[in-house]
Amino acid sequence: MKLRIDYNNMMRRMLGAEGFSTEELDALAPEVARAAKALKEKRKSGGMDWRDLPHNQAEVVKEITEYANEMKDEFDAFVVLGIGGSALGPAAVQQALNHPYYNELPREKRGGWPKLYIADNVDPERLTYLFETVDITKCLFNVISKSGSTSETMSQFMIIKEILEERLGKEGAGRHIVCTTDSAKGNLITIAKAEGYKIFIIPSGVGGRFSELTPVGLLPAAFCGIDIAGLLEGAAQMDAMCETGDIKQNPAFMFALLQYAGMKKGKNITVMLPYADSLKYISDWFAQLWAESLGKRYDVNGEEVNVGQTPVKALGVTDQHSQVQLYVEGPYDKIVVFLGVDEYRETIKIPKLYEDVPSLGFLGGVTHNDLIKTEQFATEYALTKSGRLNMTLTLPKVTAQTLGQLLYFFEVATAFAGELLNIDAFDQPGVEEGKNATYAMFGRPGYAEKKKELDSAQIKDDKYII
Ligand code: PA5
Repeated sequence: MKLRIDYNNMMRRMLGAEGFSTEELDALAPEVARAAKALKEKRKSGGMDWRDLPHNQAEVVKEITEYANEMKDEFDAFVVLGIGGSALGPAAVQQALNHPYYNELPREKRGGWPKLYIADNVDPERLTYLFETVDITKCLFNVISKSGSTSETMSQFMIIKEILEERLGKEGAGRHIVCTTDSAKGNLITIAKAEGYKIFIIPSGVGGRFSELTPVGLLPAAFCGIDIAGLLEGAAQMDAMCETGDIKQNPAFMFALLQYAGMKKGKNITVMLPYADSLKYISDWFAQLWAESLGKRYDVNGEEVNVGQTPVKALGVTDQHSQVQLYVEGPYDKIVVFLGVDEYRETIKIPKLYEDVPSLGFLGGVTHNDLIKTEQFATEYALTKSGRLNMTLTLPKVTAQTLGQLLYFFEVATAFAGELLNIDAFDQPGVEEGKNATYAMFGRPGYAEKKKELDSAQIKDDKYII
């Protein structure tokens, strides 16, 4: 079972003048060769540890599986405390592979696994309402932070640790906390060791948004019964498919090249449009990966380039009744990526009712499977007819293995797009400014200069507030 990419509707043959000609794409061959070489060299020199994750984690999988099996019966819920790359992947994988109403199912229908909650915000209502929903003394909290110092995650940890210790005592509380973090950097590893918490390590060369296939994603997935070895197996298959420098055989490189060629023509938005509820949160995960990796002010030579493409999250068919009008008739500034499946895991048939009502009768006997696929095809057709760039990724079926392929596909595509754009896809300097301003306003030691800068900044004028 292999992921497919169909980019017919990106080409002039289907789209007319708005599409790419083969010659146009061929003309990018030197850039493709340079990017492929750079990526290969980075991998060889150990600069891209996430590429090895499908191959070097047999021990990690064993340890996670044993730990999950040992602990699962003790807890009603597994709660992820993380944000960004430490939360979006676990949410996407859970949504993709488990029942959409997983937490509402009785335990036996969850395979005996605990419920899963993901607390990835510091909105004061989030934890308050979570505490009203679960019995905190029956939860296992997974504190996930690569840097081990993210305020949002660490503040949640501090709140929960205090409550757990009040209710269960220090020792009792310890069994309710498991940390996933870097082996050396940050506060979390120091705290976890000092407190005696169970620890899983994120390899040092793997950044947050590329970390889903480390214990960041594998541990929460294992705690809801997901086949984590299957995820890695799928990723390894995609790794093999992305080995070749021949762009016409390399799905991730081709995806990146088409987006890059689109960016050059002002297509500054990419819409991720899954036609499966199970893949809805893949759009959220992809949005972070694509936006944070490619949205950069400077290229690797220090030239100001201000590149990137805005990812938009949508869902088929739901957003046909919301956003698709804009995509078909609005500005020519987007590439729409359909994300479909050949075979849904369930089939549901529409009964033959109202056969004499023309606007309803035609639906009788049709399955929702046919309806969603036909609507996907029809939307692809409408976009293509109106000259809008679109391409389709298809999973034969959503399984741990094909999902592993998809995640790894997007990671390689993002890294390759970064090379094409000649930027560093693995840093996020733009995020730091806001973080540092927050630290300064709270008086964190070492941020006095930033505080001065903030104090001297222009203050808001009431005349612009109505
Ligand atoms: O991709 C990234 O590096 C970020 O989005 C991080 O995942 C996010 O900021 C959370 O960081 P951390 O895992 O260090 O708490």
